[in-house]
This record gives sequence, C-alpha cells and structure tokens, in this order.
Amino acid sequence: MVGHVLQDKHGRRMRKLRISLLDACNMRCVYCMPEKPHFTPQEDWASAEEIVRIAGHLCALGIEEIRLTGGEPTLRADMLAIAEGLSGLGARKLGLTSNGLLLGEKLEALKTRTDLRFLNISMDSLDRDNFARITRKDVFETVHGTILKARDMGFSVKVNVVALRGLNDHEVLDFVDWSGREGVAVRFLEAMNIGVMEKDFAQRLIPAREMIGEIRKHYKLTAQVGEVDATAYTFVADNGADVGFIASESEPFCGNCSRLRLTAQGHLRPCLFTHTGINLKGVAFEHYPAAIASILDLKPGGRMAHVAQPMYQIGG
Ligand code: 5AD
Ligand code: SF4
Repeated sequence: MVGHVLQDKHGRRMRKLRISLLDACNMRCVYCMPEKPHFTPQEDWASAEEIVRIAGHLCALGIEEIRLTGGEPTLRADMLAIAEGLSGLGARKLGLTSNGLLLGEKLEALKTRTDLRFLNISMDSLDRDNFARITRKDVFETVHGTILKARDMGFSVKVNVVALRGLNDHEVLDFVDWSGREGVAVRFLEAMNIGVMEKDFAQRLIPAREMIGEIRKHYKLTAQVGEVDATAYTFVADNGADVGFIASESEPFCGNCSRLRLTAQGHLRPCLFTHTGINLKGVAFEHYPAAIASILDLKPGGRMAHVAQPMYQIGG
C-alpha cells in the first residue's frame, strides 16, 4: 500500500510535507509583511504532539521529506521538541526554513539532538544597509555569520534570495561570487504575487531567465539535472558557485508538485494557493484517512490564479 496511498487524482505521488509552526516573525520583509500583520494566537496552534502525530501518519503513507517553516519557526519555544519528534519518523530529509536571526543559538542542539540537516536561510542582500532596507531589521552580520557557522558545522545550507527589481537586482552577480567563495548554495526566488507583493508585483518581479542571462555574461553556467518534482533550476558556475532559480511566477512548476502543507493551526492543505484545507487539530486518529483522501482530491493540477492569504500565514 505504501507509496500509492498519497496519490492525487492527477496521478502525482505526494512525498514532501511542509509544516508551518507559527505565522509570527521577528523580521518585517517588505515583500512579505504588512505594516500591521495579524498573527494566529498561540492557543490556536497545533501542539507539538499533534504535529508529530500527523506527520507520523503521513510518513507511514509515503512522505519522505519534511520541512519546517513559518513565519519564523525558531520563534516557537518547542521547535526543538518538534524536530526531535519528527526525527524518529523515518523521513529521508528533515529541513528548516529560517530567516537566520535566532537560528545560530539553536544549531548545536539541532545537530546533536535531531536528524534535521537541511537549512534554507533567507538573506536578501549582501550589503548591510540594503539588508536592513529589505528586511526592516539591521541584522545582516548575525544572519551572515549564522549561515557560515551552519556550513562549518556540516549542515546542508541553501541561501534564499527573493529577487526584487530596484531593491537587490544589482546584487545578483555579488551573490554568485559569494556562493563560489563561501561554498554555500544560493537560490534566487522570483517574487510571488501574494500578500503585500500584489500592489507592486509587476515592477518588482525579475524573471529567472533574465537573471540567468545576466549571470551568463560573466560566468559559464552548467545546468544540473534535478529531481522531477524539484522547484529550482540549478547550475554550477565556473567559479564553483551553486546557483538555482525558483521561477514560481514565470515558469510555474505546479504540474509536478509533490507537496502537502500543514498550517500552524493544524489544517492540512493540498496547495499554497488553495484556501481550503481540513482541520486535523483535535481530530481523532481514525478520521485521518478520510480527511487525507479529501485533501488529495482537492489538489489542483496546475497553478492557481490567486490566493487570498499572505505567505507568512501559509508558510513559505
Ligand atoms: N515571494 C517570494 N518569496 C516570499 N517569501 C515570503 N514572501 C514571499 C513572496 N512574496 C519567502 C521568504 C522565505 C520563504 C519563507 O518565503 O523570503 O525565503
Ligand atoms: Fe519573516 Fe520570512 Fe516574511 Fe521576512 S519573508 S518577514 S523573514 S516570514
């Protein structure tokens, strides 16, 4: 049975699970957070036990990769306990997406007490002032230091850069140079037309192809072969840089999607772009199969036009 249970009506097998631990964040990136964000109160969060129980059930049905996201997942006091619980479930890959501000102090415990080894850390600029302009937090050194520390400790680290015209487009080549120099992979994310981005999306979007063209004027890029359900086009540059592009807007990869999402409130969702989900918080274990079947049924075949909820509430 295992391996076919999490198949949707388009024939795709679900093998990745994203778990948003909470929607709050200690940064205020201009492309993500409104002036006055609304955060889910703590009493509405799924508990650590519920998260591990739901994930355990999904792993038994074929989920192989789990990623913790937010908001900012390190803000949850029980993040380590959750990562520990998830470590025993048999997933091949356990990862975390973080803004890197509080992550540094958690690395040692993550390494020694959990199987979590894959870190995506956001760093939208290599320039201190520009970093502060984009994230509204003057903490470039902390984030940059944490990235290098995680690399040195043996974590697999990728840096997420949301590419924004007029804000960090002049730094694309600097990031390629940095990746080659530091031996850390960089992923350029196209800005997504979601939440606060909706108002100036057209001006801000830099299509992946444009960035690739720009980089190719200065570096030789060799395309890498990725997994079918990969979300990034990846290349190795002739300076050794590992660079990838997540072209969510210009070339959506939704057709090959293999992801399910669990929101901070414990709703299982079929897609980032569907508001419908099924609440598993407080639901008895014996009702999980029916709930999961209906989620698979709701999984869209391709890119949805619009989502009414901001990214920080769904989990990046
Ligand atoms: N477009 C692209 N990426 C976004 N993120 C948040 N909002 C957006 C957006 N509008 C990203 C963050 C982080 C991840 C959690 O989601 O930069 O890498
Ligand atoms: Fe926080 Fe990430 Fe949103 Fe920035 S992009 S405000 S770090 S959730």
